[in-house]
Amino acid sequence: MKTVVVLACLALALAEASMIPPKVVYKTKPVEADFVTKQEKILKLFVHPEQVDVEADYYKIGKEYDIEAHVDDYTNKKSVEEFWGLWKTGFLPKNVPFSIFYERQREEAVALFHVFYYAKDFETFYKTAAFARVYVNEGQFLYAYYIALIHRADTKGVVVPAPYEVYPELFTNSNVWYKIFRTKMQNGVFTPDFGTEQGIVQEGDRWVVYSNYSDYLTYPNDEYKISYFTEDIGLNAYYYYFHSYFPFWMDGDLYPGMKERRGEVYYYFYQQLLARYYLERLSNGLGEIPDFSWWHPIRTGYSPYVNYFTSFVQRPSYYNIPYEKNSEELQLLDTYEKTFIQYLEQGHFKAFNQDVDLRNSKSINFVGNFWQANADWHGKVARKDNHNSYEVTARRILGAAPEPVDKYTFVPTALDFYQTSLRDPIFYQMYSKILKYFIEYKKFLTPYTQDVLHYVGVKINEVKVDKLVTFFDYYDFDVTNNVFFTKEELKSKQFPYYVVRQPRINHKPFTVTVDVKSDVEGDAVFKIFMGPKYDSKGYPINIEDNWQNFVELDWFVHKLTKGQNKVDRVSTDFFYYKEDSVPMRDIFKLLPEGKVPTDMSTESGAFPKRLVLPKGTKGGFPYQFFVIAYPYTPAEKKFDAIKTFEWDSKPFGYPFDRPAHEVYFKQPNMFFEDVVVYHEGEEYTYRYNTPYYTVHHNEVTKH
Ligand SMILES: *[C@@H]1O[C@H](CO)[C@@H](O)[C@H](O)[C@H]1NC(C)=O
Repeated sequence: MKTVVVLACLALALAEASMIPPKVVYKTKPVEADFVTKQEKILKLFVHPEQVDVEADYYKIGKEYDIEAHVDDYTNKKSVEEFWGLWKTGFLPKNVPFSIFYERQREEAVALFHVFYYAKDFETFYKTAAFARVYVNEGQFLYAYYIALIHRADTKGVVVPAPYEVYPELFTNSNVWYKIFRTKMQNGVFTPDFGTEQGIVQEGDRWVVYSNYSDYLTYPNDEYKISYFTEDIGLNAYYYYFHSYFPFWMDGDLYPGMKERRGEVYYYFYQQLLARYYLERLSNGLGEIPDFSWWHPIRTGYSPYVNYFTSFVQRPSYYNIPYEKNSEELQLLDTYEKTFIQYLEQGHFKAFNQDVDLRNSKSINFVGNFWQANADWHGKVARKDNHNSYEVTARRILGAAPEPVDKYTFVPTALDFYQTSLRDPIFYQMYSKILKYFIEYKKFLTPYTQDVLHYVGVKINEVKVDKLVTFFDYYDFDVTNNVFFTKEELKSKQFPYYVVRQPRINHKPFTVTVDVKSDVEGDAVFKIFMGPKYDSKGYPINIEDNWQNFVELDWFVHKLTKGQNKVDRVSTDFFYYKEDSVPMRDIFKLLPEGKVPTDMSTESGAFPKRLVLPKGTKGGFPYQFFVIAYPYTPAEKKFDAIKTFEWDSKPFGYPFDRPAHEVYFKQPNMFFEDVVVYHEGEEYTYRYNTPYYTVHHNEVTKH
């Protein structure tokens, strides 16, 4: 009898353990008092961004501030004139969606960014931001503000909050909002069974809403199988950060180090993102990323249930692009593709006062600029903004939105925002198309030979990888910023807060051990990649067709000594990954102690750590690791700003940055190791969000 009781308690304890996300201890670093003040001011503008709080510190400052009267406080007066010119003729109104992909809205957002950027000191910047916080469209303000914080010299190192806390409505499905708004309006769950059935639980001073990822209603094909990945808040936040660091419209001169490599960063970013996505497709049985044509119906439908002031456009399967209506756009896309191939065949790009050698590997920067149609690719030859951008046009066509009514009124699609683009499967098909043009360019480059790849005197004898295990665990994120409060509530600060609880893919930490024999001494770079072992049909992959499908997991420098060297790398130290952001609520608590979280302040551009491994299967899914060692040459100082991407003098992604010759990839300083990824625990995320779990949870908290 006793054992039964003990077992029952144990079962409850276990259930409890898996119910609530574990408490995390944040890594922090100490900061000076004036940094704390600055950080606090910055964060406060992010609180309830869709409401103007007349009691808040920023309100009076922003309400009274006059940018034009302070024109001397900006280091670039033209930027003030430009902004003011637009402001006088009318800006995007409040309470409508803002998208950077619409021309007039973009012009305004960029002008706003410029006044933020050219404010001569922090005080002026703050006043300008407070002004915009009070008067400008919510999304437009946040957009320009984020980018300014990342790029201003005097806000380097400040912590910017995770986009899913700032715009939670773009990271959650609308049924969650029904539940939250109802809970708020009825001041709790009206009947206990409503809470149980709908997954709404009160825990202390917060409401927890369990949320499923989208299913087959949203993804009519099999794509719903990986919605836990495409809708992962960390992944979508990552894409938003990438854009904030490298906005396509930004003049390369504003960002040191960017100009020479932004096109290369562009290629590398999308290549890695798609390679990672492909690995996830493989273990879920989805296979290759499908191709599509501009001239045939778009097979992949997408019906998001996302609301951003208004509901998102739903694209049916076998969507017929309205060819006549979009003839200009389709012509642009077609010409863009053909122009590129023509220049490529000729080996030179000659236009806009440039003559680019398309047989040179360094021209990757140009090729990236061309496909991104960013502010650097025309050189300084003026051409309005990126009116003729392939990306922007493709997003418009594939988004399937009706034609906009006027310069401000449009029906939003997932592709209109960096926060939601990764949810739509067509996104990956579109970038896969673009990457194929890069590959065409790369096919003209001389593949690396033995001379380049070889590392004299260094031999990797063995690579050992721990058992690789993925699992789902709950993660809470604060969505209170999209809940509306009365003046009294805001004043009293006495109100519950709201979090969404979702199971997210995670993995057990693992170690990679590299056994190296060396006849030389010196600093060596080690890189660890993960790639497919078999293609979607089950055939062993050939590296010559798959070099672009390898994901870079780690980069580090190790001092080799003569003789045997044993190098251990723990996955938690992998170079390209960061922890989840610390919730704003907790940052506000850390500040009075003179601390800020380390991870978010320095590595905002890195990939979410939870997503290192693609989801495994019960019986194990095969992949392979590839390890290479090569002599270390540090990157030039001027590339400091982009060091989240790489930190030596090789091209990003080396040696998989160009077509590979199988025979040369058998050097002693390289090693391919077969690995298997297992998945433990519940296999499907929706199973976590059923009353079975939430009821249990209720029972436990009552005791
Ligand atoms: C999640 O989906 C499952 C399966 O459809 C359903 O039983 C459950 O109630 C859903 N949970 C929530 C919180 O919506």
